[in-house]
Amino acid sequence: MTKGLRKGLTSYGDAGFSLFHRKAFIKALGYSDDALDRPIVGVTNTYSDYNPCHGNVPDLIESVKRGVLLAGCLPMVFPTISIHESFAHPTSMFLRNLMAMDTEEMIRAQAMDAVVVIGGCDKTLPAQVMAAASVDLPVVVLQTGPMTVGNHRGEVLGACTDCRRLWAQYRAGMIDEAEIDLISSRLVPTVGTCGVMGTASTMACLVEALGLAVPMSATAPATHADRRRIAETSGKRAAEMAICGSPRPSDLITEASVRNAMTVLQAIGGSTNGLIHLTAMAGRAGVKLDIDAFDRLGREIPVLLNLKPSGTHYMEHFHSAGGLPALMRELNSFLDLDALSVSGGTIGDAIAKAESAQEQDVIRSLAAPLKKVGAIAVLRGNLAPNTAVIKQSAASPDLMRHTGRAVVFESVEETTLRIDSPDLDVNADDVLVLRNAGPKGAPGMPEAGYLPIPMKLARQGVKDMVRISDARMSGTAFGTIVLHITPEAAVGGPLAVVQTGDRIMLDVEARRIELLIDDAEMQSRLAAWKDLPPQREKATRGYAKLFEDCVLQADRGCDFNFLLRELDSRTDS
Ligand code: FES
Repeated sequence: MTKGLRKGLTSYGDAGFSLFHRKAFIKALGYSDDALDRPIVGVTNTYSDYNPCHGNVPDLIESVKRGVLLAGCLPMVFPTISIHESFAHPTSMFLRNLMAMDTEEMIRAQAMDAVVVIGGCDKTLPAQVMAAASVDLPVVVLQTGPMTVGNHRGEVLGACTDCRRLWAQYRAGMIDEAEIDLISSRLVPTVGTCGVMGTASTMACLVEALGLAVPMSATAPATHADRRRIAETSGKRAAEMAICGSPRPSDLITEASVRNAMTVLQAIGGSTNGLIHLTAMAGRAGVKLDIDAFDRLGREIPVLLNLKPSGTHYMEHFHSAGGLPALMRELNSFLDLDALSVSGGTIGDAIAKAESAQEQDVIRSLAAPLKKVGAIAVLRGNLAPNTAVIKQSAASPDLMRHTGRAVVFESVEETTLRIDSPDLDVNADDVLVLRNAGPKGAPGMPEAGYLPIPMKLARQGVKDMVRISDARMSGTAFGTIVLHITPEAAVGGPLAVVQTGDRIMLDVEARRIELLIDDAEMQSRLAAWKDLPPQREKATRGYAKLFEDCVLQADRGCDFNFLLRELDSRTDS
């Protein structure tokens, strides 16, 4: 099999010349023939001045290179897109597929026998796994790791659950301008990903559970020496995989490993975004995520991890308590222990080596879980004919069964304009409805599902309300919030025809979300909706047009329709 520099030669019509030409140029960087004869491990460089969650990437690259060299291969670093949550307009989800396409094409285009993809901020790990699974080249995923905690007036803080909590206090008038400014300097004390069980931590755990990353890699803090050792190990393993050609993503992302990942997602109190990304990553490997099986797991698997926003601790405490292998040991009886890992053995082997921490309250046992049920419930009903989801582990128990009057917002922009108006007709037991915020509607399905509590209610002390939308929500948020309503309003889903004053019923135990109107009224409203002009101007060019034309709904992972595995006719050269 062709390896190293000889792979994927540029087309000049003369293979010998193509190799000669390639060698001539690369030697300008001082490589010897010995170095250039080795198998190559590509390493993605996702460092960006816009991305503090990836602020340690240069250090990690050095450690990965050391591991690759120790195992006798040649590391080659190459840049790709980098996405940070707060520097991505209109929303990072809009760019995830672009990053996946960029990474896939650069892995395909450049000579490499294995690749280490380094990412962390929410969309970067799924984008990179989608890319690597599409190419099916041996890959080791290296997470940048979580930030460590901050402190403010004796209280431990971590982005971004505490960002939202403290901002809500500021909106309610409990914190003044000077204090919120001070807090902004203390919430994110180091580089690395958000220190709670938000989307980044969820994805870090899911890639380790899938066997795509080495044990303990999900939790080691970004700034700890452990993180660099994990990077070295990742480089070494990638080099060994480059030499032997396996395991490939298709060996690792299987029905068994996806089920393991779904189990972990429920037990860690994971982000609802994790479900979208897991669907997309599995889809690129040809594995269909069974959403009903996921919901059933949620009834069997309790939340074991005591991390914010479902619990009280932070990612660095999870690491000290034994990390994901220790948590998976508790879930032993629900897992397929024969699923493979890039570490060279099975998931069962990784669990067998899990450390046991004494006197810890971070990883609970099945006998004494944090929550009796799993993180996420899947809802259906006449408002969500396909599906919707709710993060029940971070919701208010007294709102899990609730009927209230709808207060409708047509778009994210309208929400911003009206939500704090003193004239807004809203009560604490109403249901806030946001639409046109789905994959095509916004576009890009922003994290706008966490509708703020209207100012006048916040000032009365209201902390939670039922909120429903076709949008997403940050995994760091808390609230009784129904998300990912599918089909979305912008493609004519029933959410499009809810009217202010309608009554909406949420029953999480029964897995129902219903608009309380009869079928005839629903059909008549849907027929009238079809004749309405579009809500906004459509994109006419560039990536925005590609996105709007091709993005699939949330229940299909928001991937592009032309990137599905079954359509792929290319093979690795
Ligand atoms: Fe990057 Fe939270 S903003 S992980």
